[in-house]
Amino acid sequence: MTTAKGQSQPRVFIETFGCQMNILDSELVQNQLVDLGYEPVKNADDANVILYNTCSVRDLSEQKVLSRLGIMKQRKEKGENIIVGVLGCMAERTNTDILKKHPFIDLLAGPSQLDKVPHLLENIRQENQNQPQVALSNFRLRKGKSVDESTMDSLEALDASRLSGVESKSKQAYIRITRGCNKFCSFCVVPRTRGPEIHRSPDAIVEEAKRLVGQGVLEITLLGQTINHYTFSDGEKTTSFANLIYRVHEEIPDLPRLRFLTSYPRDFTDEALDVMATSKRICKYLHIPAQSGSNDVLKRMNRGYTTEIYLDLIERARKRMPDISIIGDMIVGFPGETEEDFQKSLALLYKVRYKNIFVFKYSPRPGTVAEKKDPDDISREIKRDRNQRMLDVQHEISLTHHQSFIGKTVHVLVEGTAKINPNANRDLITLGKQQTRLTSRTEGDHIVSFDGPKSLVGQLTNVQITGATSLSLSGQLQT
Ligand code: SAH
Ligand code: F3S
Repeated sequence: MTTAKGQSQPRVFIETFGCQMNILDSELVQNQLVDLGYEPVKNADDANVILYNTCSVRDLSEQKVLSRLGIMKQRKEKGENIIVGVLGCMAERTNTDILKKHPFIDLLAGPSQLDKVPHLLENIRQENQNQPQVALSNFRLRKGKSVDESTMDSLEALDASRLSGVESKSKQAYIRITRGCNKFCSFCVVPRTRGPEIHRSPDAIVEEAKRLVGQGVLEITLLGQTINHYTFSDGEKTTSFANLIYRVHEEIPDLPRLRFLTSYPRDFTDEALDVMATSKRICKYLHIPAQSGSNDVLKRMNRGYTTEIYLDLIERARKRMPDISIIGDMIVGFPGETEEDFQKSLALLYKVRYKNIFVFKYSPRPGTVAEKKDPDDISREIKRDRNQRMLDVQHEISLTHHQSFIGKTVHVLVEGTAKINPNANRDLITLGKQQTRLTSRTEGDHIVSFDGPKSLVGQLTNVQITGATSLSLSGQLQT
C-alpha cells in the first residue's frame, strides 16, 4: 500500500500550472484542506499529499506535469507514504487514460469537481484502498451543451467555500464570475475541459467581493474565459457585464481597484466601456487576445471576428480611455499560416500598440477541430522564428510605451520586495534608513520598482517614474 493513509498530520503541496482560473482553484482547494487541518507546505519534498493543478492548453504544459509525476513515481517506489493527485484540465482531458499509464496516481479530479477533493482525500487516507479516487464531469456525455444541476452545485460550492473558509491574507484576490466557455475556437481545449459557459449570480459575486474587501483586499480581479459575455437572469431581472461591474464598483466604495480578464473581442458593448471609463476605481486595463492579425487565419480559428472588428473595439476603448493598457495573446504557426499572414499579425501589433503580449507557438490539442482538420504543417523552426520575431517587435513597442511614463507620477499597489537589489547598499548609505527595493503595479499592470520602506508592502502609494525598459518601470517614491 503506497498511499498516505492513516497519517496524523497531512502536509499538502499544490503546484499550479496555467491560468489565473487555476491559481484561484488551487487557492480554494488549499483553503478547504487547511480548514480540515492540513498543513500547507511550499515544497513537494516536505509534503505527503502532492496535488498538481494542471493545464492542457498546450502540450508543453502537460509535459511538465508528466515529468513531475515521474519524480513522484520514484518516491512511491522507494516506499514513501505519499498521496499524489492530478487536478484540473489535464485530469478532465485525459480522463481515466492517465491512470492506465500512471497507475500510482491516487486522485483525479476535473475542474468542475474540485469541491470534492477534501472528501476524496479523506477516502484515500482512511479507507485503506488501492483504487484511485476519480471525480470528472459528464460534459462529454452532455455534448458540451449544458451543465447538469449537480455539476452546477459542485462549481458553486467551490467558490462559495470562500465565504466560510480561512481569511485571505493577500491584498489581491480573484473572483470567478463566468465558468467554462462556449466559443470553441478551433485550437482550444478549454471548452472541453471546463465545460459550457455558465454565469454566477451577481449577489454571490458582490457578497464574495465585500467579504474579501472586509479582510483587507485592495485589488479584485474578476475572472472568466470570455468575461464580457457575462449575463445573469434571475427570471425577473437580467444583469449584463456592464451592470455587474457597475454594481461591484458602486456597492463596494472601499475597494480601490477592480479589474477583470479575459475579454473576448466580440460583443464588448459601449455600455461596458462607458462604465469602465466613468468608474474611477475600475482599472483602465483590458486583456483582449487577438490571436492573429490575418482574417484568413482568424476564420479558420473560428474566432468569429475580423481584425477590423478587433481594431474598432480598441478604438472605442481608447476614445473613452486614452491611457488604457491593452494586453494581448497571439498564436504563431497556426496550421496554414503563411509569411504574409504572420506579417499581418506583426502589423496588428503596431496598430494596437499593446502594453505587452503573450505569444504562443501553436500546439495541436487532442479533440479540437484544428487538430482533427488542419495538419500541423508549420515546422518547429518556423514557429520558433516567428515567435522570436514577434517578441522582438513587441519588445520595441513595449519599450516606447514604457518610456512615455518617464516624468509622470503613477499610483501603485506595492506587491513585495524585488528579487534583485543591485542598488540596496547605495540606498542604505545615501538614505540612511531602512530602505529596500520594492516591486509594485499600476492600475494598467505596469511593473514599477522603487526604493522604500518594507512597511509599504500591501499598500497603495505614488511613484514618480525615472526609468523604463521594455518590461518595467522604475522610479522614486513620492511622499
Ligand atoms: N480566454 C482564455 C483563453 C484560455 S487559453 C483566457 O482566459 O485566457 C489562453 C491562451 O492560450 C489563448 O488566448 C491562446 O493564445 C493560447 N492557446 C490556447 N490554445 C492554444 C493552442 N492549442 N496552441 C497554442 N496556444 C494556445
Ligand atoms: Fe479557448 Fe477561445 Fe474559449 S481561446 S477559452 S475557446 S474563447
